[in-house]
Amino acid sequence: MAGGRPSPPLFAALLLVAASLRVASSSDSDVLLRFKATVSDPAGSLNSWAAGSAPCNKNVSNWAGVVCDDDGNVSGLRLEDMRLSGSLTRIVLLQSLPGLRTLSFMKNDLEGPLPEVGKFKSLRTLYLSTNKFSGAISDDAFAGMSWLKKLHLSSNGFSGPIPTSITELPKLLELRLDNNRFSGPIPDLQLKSLKLVNMSNNYLEGRIPNGFRTMDAGLFAGNKALCGDPIGVSCKPLPSESLSNQKLAVTVATVVFIVSGIVAVVVLLPQQRQMEHERLEQVQSPKKPAKDTKFASSQKEEKLESGAAGYDSGGSSKKPAKEHEQGRLVFVREGRERFELQDLLKSSAEVLGTGRFGCSYKAALLTGRSVVVKRFRDMNRVGKEDFEEHMRRMGRLSHPNLLPLVAYYYRKDEKLLVADYVPRRSLAAALHGFRAAKVPALDWATRLKVVKGIAKGLNYLYEELQILSVPHGHLKSSNVLLNDSFEPLLTDYALVPLMNQAKAAQSMVAYKSPECKQHGKTSKKSDIWSLGTLILEILTGRISMIDPTQDKDVVSLADWVNAVAEEEWTDKVLDREMRATRKSGEEMIKLLKVGLACCEANVEKRWELEEVLDRIEELKESEGDEDS
Ligand SMILES: *[C@@H]1O[C@H](CO)[C@@H](O)[C@H](O)[C@H]1NC(C)=O
Ligand SMILES: *[C@@H]1O[C@H](CO)[C@@H](O)[C@H](O)[C@H]1NC(C)=O
Ligand SMILES: *[C@@H]1O[C@H](CO)[C@@H](O)[C@H](O)[C@H]1NC(C)=O
Repeated sequence: MAGGRPSPPLFAALLLVAASLRVASSSDSDVLLRFKATVSDPAGSLNSWAAGSAPCNKNVSNWAGVVCDDDGNVSGLRLEDMRLSGSLTRIVLLQSLPGLRTLSFMKNDLEGPLPEVGKFKSLRTLYLSTNKFSGAISDDAFAGMSWLKKLHLSSNGFSGPIPTSITELPKLLELRLDNNRFSGPIPDLQLKSLKLVNMSNNYLEGRIPNGFRTMDAGLFAGNKALCGDPIGVSCKPLPSESLSNQKLAVTVATVVFIVSGIVAVVVLLPQQRQMEHERLEQVQSPKKPAKDTKFASSQKEEKLESGAAGYDSGGSSKKPAKEHEQGRLVFVREGRERFELQDLLKSSAEVLGTGRFGCSYKAALLTGRSVVVKRFRDMNRVGKEDFEEHMRRMGRLSHPNLLPLVAYYYRKDEKLLVADYVPRRSLAAALHGFRAAKVPALDWATRLKVVKGIAKGLNYLYEELQILSVPHGHLKSSNVLLNDSFEPLLTDYALVPLMNQAKAAQSMVAYKSPECKQHGKTSKKSDIWSLGTLILEILTGRISMIDPTQDKDVVSLADWVNAVAEEEWTDKVLDREMRATRKSGEEMIKLLKVGLACCEANVEKRWELEEVLDRIEELKESEGDEDS
């Protein structure tokens, strides 16, 4: 063993010879070569790092990824996209490079825990994004890095809490932690200098600290349970009403909610029936001559006894509501598979979300078909007859951009509306939700298609429901579903006439319109304002700030866009993920202007829907321009 080693004098001699061959900057080269030996470089990306050559010739680098300063010292390493692997356990070797200011190992296959970067006290930038680093980061990992301006750790597997030593970096400008598994609360970064922060796609929860209140909601998207100003989610615990506009995270609360929802229906139904029987007897008693004759038929009891199997009259009835009895689902659309409330209860259910009006869930029927059931409270503005009349009206609506109402269930303090299930997510989720790495953001062509579809659906509602002052009433991105071919389907339309007025005023989008704020009344053009806001949301990728729980301090999207100079719209307003080309960029700006015209606060000046529709129809995807 010992015989294999050079004897100490010989070893020293070799070192001397080696040293005498070196030029001035040899030590940088030495350090780099020793470091190179500790990483795995299967692609040979570092082949230019070779003994006998110098990494720097003045400010010109001879070695791949080495950045040189004017004195010929190594000032940075940009080893990006080089397929390096291994775990940087010996990164401390680089401490012997006195001029090192920048370290980037982005886009490699590096793994293991965060390397010991805290030792590099004079580092300005540290980029480790898009690797396979993992594990928790010790709380003091960045302590004392008083020059650090940019820290990018995106797209790794880091977990555990965000280290508080980050909060003490006095010069930090950019902090990217997105696409990791950081959990727990966001620490209060009292960093006045911070220009960019990205916390999206982690498991963070709790209140977003005040210091971030003006930041873009997208930077916090895709987390477990955040709340606070940027994302427009109130931090008050409201288990049944905790819909965040943009994301329907299935939280423990909603699971509890659905269980309680089902229990409520299961438990209440038999009682309900009992009451109905009792009421039926009353109705049938001669003292109360039945005005309500439809409850008095003996058929009814038969049907109630026979339960789910008994109701098979199919779509043949011309007046489905006449068959209505309490405790039953009433089908408003012809040619649909019939089922009973009990079938829904027996089916496997999954919470889709909890909204301001109640919970909605997906129920898979035994036949394999799925439906969406929405429970509504506060839906008592009109009496039963008017309610049924309106349901029939809705049952007659049919348009490719409307999610059809299939059936309803009426009870005094609760209504269920049943619609087809669309196996796709909401526009809100597509725009702002968690995006798995492989699912691309919506491109311009898709967004334009979505806008066109929404406008057509809205126009249809205007034509068919002229008696309503606000035909849709609740148009927003979470009420637009996208099917497999990204055709939008409007949901939750035409509900204004049913909702209790106070609830409508508090919760429905049309009531957030400027005219409503000014005069307390919606107008025929309130839906057009909602459409405009939605168009702006689609183009900017920003969440529209129409969260009714926080009326004050909320800047409307239109005001926000208008505050940016028109020349800067392309850079500052349009969502970059649409990937604008020169020509499509022009079309985007045109659509942005349509959106703004729809948001015009003066109702007189606000466009009519026809004009909006014409302007939108004219827009092109501009495929085949300089990109292709
Ligand atoms: C290197 O320095 C020369 C002269 O000082 C300058 O013209 C050149 O742009 C520099 N190159 C780089 C890559 O900084
Ligand atoms: C650059 O290297 C020289 C010697 O090669 C050294 O004297 C000088 O301090 C170094 N500059 C910096 C900024 O580290
Ligand atoms: C924030 O991170 C997400 C996920 O990595 C990314 O899609 C988005 O573009 C980032 N936003 C900014 C402004 O960096």
